[in-house]
Amino acid sequence: MVCLGNICRSPLAEGIMQHLADKAGLDWQVDSAGTGDWHVGQGPDRRSVKAAADEGIDISKQVCRLFRTLDFDEFDLILVMDKSNLSNVLAMARNDEDRKKVKMLLGDKVVPDPYYDDNQFAPVFKLIEAGCKEIIKQYS
Ligand code: 4NP
Repeated sequence: MVCLGNICRSPLAEGIMQHLADKAGLDWQVDSAGTGDWHVGQGPDRRSVKAAADEGIDISKQVCRLFRTLDFDEFDLILVMDKSNLSNVLAMARNDEDRKKVKMLLGDKVVPDPYYDDNQFAPVFKLIEAGCKEIIKQYS
């Protein structure tokens, strides 16, 4: 799961997807990363922590990290939140095999960045949750 800062959207996506996959009995390992390095080493934004906790998911122990080329080798699927994440990640792809792993979580729709709007965290949770359910249906 990849977004820009790895403190708002992708930590939610990691927590939600891992929760749903575990619940479905799938042996999936979910991780998240950002393409920007401002928050590396920090925990998720407290508003994301709260939005997840309100739905029974604890994301407070996650630690922000940068997306790296090695992720193309370690993961089967790389889900990004918006078109800018998409071009940032594709710019790091080494070949078609890497490129094929990269998709937007919501298909042709984007998960908007809630960073500047406190009221967007709960709706963004729901959008991400719907996207994760769709991915589970598609890939499980
Ligand atoms: P995210 O949101 O990409 O969903 O984690 C952002 C968090 C921080 C910043 C930008 C977006 N930032 O510029 O610090």
